[in-house]
This record gives sequence, structure tokens and C-alpha cells, in this order.
Amino acid sequence: MDKIISLCKRRGFIFPNAEIYGGFAGFWDFGPLGVSLKENIKNLWWKTFVFEREDMYRLDAAQITKSAVLEASGHVSGFSDPLADGSRFNTMFKTSAGAGDDAQIAFLRPETAQGIFTNFKNVVDSFHPELPFGIAQIGKAFRNEISPRDFLFRSREFEQMEVEYFIRPKEWENAFEMWRKIIHEWMSAVGIDSEKVHELEVSDDERAHYSKRTIDFEFDFPFGRKELYGLAYRTDFDLTNHSKSSGTELTHLNEEEKEKIIPHVIEPSLGVERTILAVLLSAYTEDELGGEKRVVLKLKPAVAPVKIAVFPLLKNKPELVKKAREVYLALRKELSSSTSLGANAVAFDDNGNIGKRYRRQDEIGTPFCITIDFDSLEKHDATVRDRDSGAQERVKISELSAYLKKTLK
Ligand code: GAP
Repeated sequence: MDKIISLCKRRGFIFPNAEIYGGFAGFWDFGPLGVSLKENIKNLWWKTFVFEREDMYRLDAAQITKSAVLEASGHVSGFSDPLADGSRFNTMFKTSAGAGDDAQIAFLRPETAQGIFTNFKNVVDSFHPELPFGIAQIGKAFRNEISPRDFLFRSREFEQMEVEYFIRPKEWENAFEMWRKIIHEWMSAVGIDSEKVHELEVSDDERAHYSKRTIDFEFDFPFGRKELYGLAYRTDFDLTNHSKSSGTELTHLNEEEKEKIIPHVIEPSLGVERTILAVLLSAYTEDELGGEKRVVLKLKPAVAPVKIAVFPLLKNKPELVKKAREVYLALRKELSSSTSLGANAVAFDDNGNIGKRYRRQDEIGTPFCITIDFDSLEKHDATVRDRDSGAQERVKISELSAYLKKTLK
């Protein structure tokens, strides 16, 4: 863990929040590479959980939540952890909206899910989806954890990627199995080592108040086997309670069969920060290349913050630098038009010697380094070095973009 934390800081992935003031427990800031890594992970989630399906709707609800919502959901009375003296501490951050007598108690949402339930009727009224269908959201959640610890693992401010999948009650087991499979596919796509993942059937007395069945997907973190994700059968708990408390009917009507029901819910809930941690732990490798020890992040290209780094062999040869800049700018332009590779994903690096540059790119998980040398000027080609094997291949400059697009996918 210490090696990962220090790599994250040194290379600009993740910084301790308010570090110049001594830090702030449970809060972390994402640096330039962390922003890209996180964005790539979220994009892959949208793709896997939403865009590859036809029955999903997206949502981005407010983070500050009216007290009535969290009273109905059971969070105001029940979202608490035990303190050392035996009393219980509600872990929601409390705030208020408005001034003076008009001020209303509110909370920073402890899960993104409630915004989905309170917008259920809006989505149904606008889109008239048939059951089953899902509403998906990525967004911040806040928990005033009594003892935040283990780097990103237990934070006080974090992000969740959640789906509430609305079904007929009799469909619950099939839907549960379907999402279980999708979670496994997701973990392999994002680069989480499947050997470190274990499913835990959560027992009756350990389950959240709303759930009839929960599987935790646990990961072997260096500090123990701990929850990475949850998959829960939330029944009609939330829609029923919000119907009762708000006085608004939250039902689904099947026009053809004249069937009106309160749908049940299957919920795959994934934390962004725990994903980042599991991805980094799965990717972190110390090995030897050409007799030299190195640290390499074997990130999946889809999530790597930098996909391609372009170098001139020598910094002080203007003709090499000029050619390398040309190749770099052309790749930026060409690759930014393809969906999965932003312009951001191509870097230019002429700092230090070539060995240092390779080490730096290996440490941040860049899948390919391209070097322009003297031969390049005559033969119009470049060396392409593969991060994991260190193998180098000469590729025509005119074919670079197609070659990289094919290999990076
Ligand atoms: N809507 C369901 C729900 O919120 P949860 O198991 O309490 O269920 C879901 O949280 C996921 O959110 C967890 O599996 C984890 O990935 C992430 N998570 C929860 N608390 C966290 C914390 N303090 N820091 C980082 N991630 C957290």
C-alpha cells in the first residue's frame, strides 16, 4: 500500500486533501493523471452498464438531499455506526438550506440511489419504459466515517456508480444473476485481478435494512479481504416508502395487460475509489527488464491515463525534436477523434534520457512509447515499445495511427 500511495502522489495521480494544512482525514484530491484514470473508469462503466444495453436511462440528481427523502428511506433513523461508548453515530453529513426561519435541514447524500427513487416517476412519465428497465447514475456520496482509513478505501467523500434496475417481483432471481455476471465482466474489462475477488453471501443479520439478498464482491486488499462492490435485491422497499411518505403513487402500469405494480429493484452498486484502488493493486508490478529492476503499472489501455508517449531520442538535436513534435501533434489530432482516446491520452516527453522516460511511462502505465531516432528521419518510421514486454518494433510513421488504434482498442 505504501508503495502505491507514494507512486500516486509522486506521479500526480492522488494527493492528500489540504496537505499544506496537515491533511484532512478521509478526503483525497485527484491530480492530473488521477483525473484521467477516474474519467476512463467512469466511461468504461457507462459503456458496460448503460450504453451496451437498450433498457437504461441516465440521471444526475442533486447531492444535497431534503430531509424528508432520507427520513422515508430509513437513513435518518438508521444510517449509523456504533461509537466506542455504545451509542450510535449517524454518519450522514448534516447541513441546512436557506437562511433564518426558512432554513431546512438537509443532508449530503450517503448514496446516489435515493435520487433515482425520487425521480422514478419522472423517468416513467417522460419515457414510458416497459419493465424491466434501469436508471443509472454516477455521482458523489458522502459519509462521515468514524475512522476513515486505508487510503481511498474508506473515504468521507467518494463517488458511486449505481444502477437501480426495476423489475416485476417474479423476475428478481434472473435479474440478480444477470447483474452478477455483468459485474464480473466489468471487473475483467477494467483490469481487476479475478483471483483476488471473492463473492460473499451477506447473512440475514449483516444485510442493509432494505435488502432481501446481497452479494458483496470482496477484494484481497493488502489490509485484508474487504468489500469492493455490492449487489442487492432491494425489493419494493424504497418505492413503497417514498409512495407512503410523499403521497405520490410510485407505480408502473403495463398498458396492455392493465397490470399496475410497485416494481422491485436489483441494485449493483460500485464505488469509484475502491475501483481505482483495486485496479492499481492489480496493475502494480515490480519486475526486471534488460537486467534492470523497474516498477510498471500494467493498466488496461482503456483506463491508462496516457496511452502513447512520443519522444525524440535526444533532446538537444533540433531535427529529432521537430520530427517527434510533428508525430506527437498528428497522433493527438487523429486519436482524439476516436471515441475512447482523447487528445489528453498522447504525451510528449523529452525530459532526461530515454531510460528515465521509459521508467516514468512504465510507472504511470503508458502502454506504448514511440521514439524518433536518426533512422526515423531517413526511413520515415519510429520505434514502438510495448510497456509489458519491453519489445520494440519499427512502424512506418504513416501507419502509426492505424497500428495504435488497432492495438489499443
Ligand atoms: N446504494 C447502496 C449502497 O450505497 P453500500 O454497500 O453502502 O451500498 C456501495 O455502498 C459501494 O460504495 C461500496 O461497495 C463501496 O464500493 C462504496 N463505498 C461505500 N462506502 C465507502 C467509503 N466510505 N469510501 C469509499 N467507498 C465507499
